[in-house]
Amino acid sequence: MSEKAWSGVFDGATDRRVEEFTESVSFDRRLYAHDIAGSIAHAQMLATVGLLTPGECHQIEQALADIRLEIEQDRFPFSCEGEDIHMHVEAALIERIGDTGRKLHTARSRNDQVATDLRLWVREAIDRIDARLVELQRAFVGRCDADFDVILPAYTHLRRAQPVLAPHYWLAYCEKFERDRGRLADCRRRVNVCSLGAAALAGTSLPIDRADAARRLGFIHPPTGEPQVTANSLDTSSDRDFLLEFTFALGVIAEHLSTWAEEWILWSTVEFDFLALPEAFCTGSSIMPQKVNPDVLELIRGKTGRVIGALSTLLVLVKGLPPAYNRDLQEDKPPVFDAFDTVDACLALAAPLVAGAELRREAIAAGLERGHLDATTLMEHLIRRGTPQRTAHGIVGRLVRKALDHGVRLADLTLDDLRAVHPEMDESVYTVLGAERAVAAMTSYGSTGREQVRRQVQRWKERLKAALKGGPS
Ligand code: ARG
Repeated sequence: MSEKAWSGVFDGATDRRVEEFTESVSFDRRLYAHDIAGSIAHAQMLATVGLLTPGECHQIEQALADIRLEIEQDRFPFSCEGEDIHMHVEAALIERIGDTGRKLHTARSRNDQVATDLRLWVREAIDRIDARLVELQRAFVGRCDADFDVILPAYTHLRRAQPVLAPHYWLAYCEKFERDRGRLADCRRRVNVCSLGAAALAGTSLPIDRADAARRLGFIHPPTGEPQVTANSLDTSSDRDFLLEFTFALGVIAEHLSTWAEEWILWSTVEFDFLALPEAFCTGSSIMPQKVNPDVLELIRGKTGRVIGALSTLLVLVKGLPPAYNRDLQEDKPPVFDAFDTVDACLALAAPLVAGAELRREAIAAGLERGHLDATTLMEHLIRRGTPQRTAHGIVGRLVRKALDHGVRLADLTLDDLRAVHPEMDESVYTVLGAERAVAAMTSYGSTGREQVRRQVQRWKERLKAALKGGPS
């Protein structure tokens, strides 16, 4: 490992401090399998076009497979003089097979190599996160039938607003995570393009076949089956848009998780008492024996900061970089790995937490009529009978005032009370009062009316069945 791959033009050795400062193998070793897969495809392509003999290619493939095994089994010697994963693998290859190993880097630079490794890694990471999102959606949809009859207050400004069916809440999260899946799928299209062959920045004068390497690595456009290669070598060398996009998609997932975590932290308080969290997902206090704390949810909420931090690190990293590769880009890996690990870990816990929580049905029902959740439906009842919206709003506002003064529900006001505010009131108002009736009155598409929610639950069950078959592509 002592001689550098680039040592030709240098007279002396590299300062040890520089080696330590510039190394990336401490974190990019994580790309070893992708690096080796990329190298095997590259070697096979070189053999296809005659730049390697079939025998040389075979030797390279065998040696790379051995190196992969050594790394997997933790027997591979990593050191900071080796700089990065690409140099380590190549040096080990040359150590094993000599001059044949020295041919692997033909028509290739670490610039197109690292971009390819990253694309392979991100593609896998997307598929993994997508599967986790589906798992989480399945946990929410899995609750819908059992929770169908539970009515919960919904809030705006954290003030009681209108009543909704519990599954309406569950499917609201499914929608958010579905948009996340869409973002990942969209990002995947741009990730799934092969950088190999762009070489350092200008391409190569050697007779390579870029489509061949792309095909071998699965960089294929699904509908047409056509291999996908980047079209401009200069752009390819520095393009990290796909990392920004992926990390942004992770950031939005983390935001959605943080909203959910916050809501469930509130719901599981003594004050709300809507939800019992599974005990295995809570922790205690070292001094207050009665505490059952929602630490997992709090950490999910808290870890959102790391993901957003990673995104901002990446955005600042690429800002103002001159075109083509710059060493700054080596710094792209730690934030993207951390964002992925963080979201992956959060999602892994979110699904069982969602499945294992229990609604506190009695407590919810006992408090449901507080907060005049039916006020809007009463207003709409008046509108349906010809009262202009602004007038109806005023009437119901005065009725709520009256109910507050008497400490009662709207449904408890007598017809005389109602008529005192609005003489045209009749018995029919009682058909929309109370949380249960307010929910029943909802009919618009996407609303919390029973029929609407029932259809949406059905739609989600079918969707998830389909999601099992296909990934985000
Ligand atoms: N370790 C480097 C990185 O991660 C690999 C590419 C190095 N290229 C170069 N021209 N020095 O970005």
